[in-house]
Amino acid sequence: MPHITVKPFDTSKLREDIYGNTKLLFKSQDLNSSDEIIGVEVENEKFLLHLKKSKKNWLLKYDKVTRPLNVSLVKQAIGDISIGLEILNSNIAIRKSQTKLANQYEKSIEDFIDIDFPLDSVSIEVGFGSGKHLLHQAINNPNRLFIGIEIHTPSAQQVLRQIELKNIENIWIVNYDARLLLEMMPSNSCSNIFVHFPVPWDKKPYRRVISTSFLEESMRVLKKNGRLELRTDSYKYFWYSLDTFLGEDIAKTALEIRKNESLDITSKYEARWLRQEKDIYDVFVTAQDNSAKRDFDFDFSFDNIVYKNSILDKISKKPILFDGFFCHFERIYRVSQSAILLKLTLGSFDRPEKKYIWMDNGMSYYFGSPPVKTVTNYKTHLKIKEYLNV
Ligand SMILES: C[S@@+](CC[C@H](N)C(=O)[O-])C[C@H]1O[C@@H](n2cnc3c(N)ncnc32)[C@H](O)[C@@H]1O
Repeated sequence: MPHITVKPFDTSKLREDIYGNTKLLFKSQDLNSSDEIIGVEVENEKFLLHLKKSKKNWLLKYDKVTRPLNVSLVKQAIGDISIGLEILNSNIAIRKSQTKLANQYEKSIEDFIDIDFPLDSVSIEVGFGSGKHLLHQAINNPNRLFIGIEIHTPSAQQVLRQIELKNIENIWIVNYDARLLLEMMPSNSCSNIFVHFPVPWDKKPYRRVISTSFLEESMRVLKKNGRLELRTDSYKYFWYSLDTFLGEDIAKTALEIRKNESLDITSKYEARWLRQEKDIYDVFVTAQDNSAKRDFDFDFSFDNIVYKNSILDKISKKPILFDGFFCHFERIYRVSQSAILLKLTLGSFDRPEKKYIWMDNGMSYYFGSPPVKTVTNYKTHLKIKEYLNV
């Protein structure tokens, strides 16, 4: 990911102004370290840059939470802001002609609010990695839309490049946590949800893709007779998934299991396991009924809650726990006497989200985008509103 190392400089020289193609929106000071966060806007995308300071040199880098998928925007912003600074090290070619990504195929989480699909038939692939299976499916089913959801940004970018090179028009790429994105999908909208070779996360099971809530969401999103298709080389994960799919809370289910079934296309991971002669397991879960429509009408605004000095005394550094969800204010950045930026983690314990809240004496809002519209996030938001209302 793009970053640059510069010699320490007087940051008061950076002002709210236009730098090349980048608009500097604000600067803010971390109240617990010397680091600064810089708000920028490039090509109508607003995101944050992080100025991480050590004694001899400072690192100007992207911010993970607000980063746009189009990495050239981040490069542009870092390049523009650092002009005139003494650069010690850089992994970006400033002002290099930008590699244009297949932008129309890149979707953000906000695009899924009131989404309309261009094709009637839709499939999802969760964690597509190098994208071999996703690309193969899309090429062979031109009348179906394939939504690939991948949490790892370089993989998402690499597949976007291939979509452009191969001129494929029926893929959307979303660089996000699939467990959250699924909650934004309309009910009864998909024919298949592929989960091929998910990371087993044996030591951190809360990070697994497959869970009871993922199963419930998948069954809601799938049309009647649509299938959730898990493929794994992990014997342990296979049994964990079966346990989940047949769990006590699951009233009714239709499962199909296969062992060592070959597919038309072999992914990089699968090829490795096959060379090692490992067994491969498929578990298919069929949606047996249509599901009720999901109401996405959650309001994530802050109404009349605005910045007051007493907020700083109130904010606890410890996570605030509620029944089944939490919020944790991790960092406070001061923008001015009357404005701050809060970095927080919020939502359910197994699928938390990181966000920023902008607060000044006129308004408050989630910087970049609001949390994903789930019931749990909404309940957390109401608690955050109560908490910040001093
Ligand atoms: C072991 S790789 C398998 C990749 C590909 N499916 C294949 O068969 O080659 C697992 C992939 O899932 C992605 N991943 C893990 N957790 C995810 C999540 N919550 N949402 C979306 N992608 C995820 C990882 O970044 C990684 O690319």
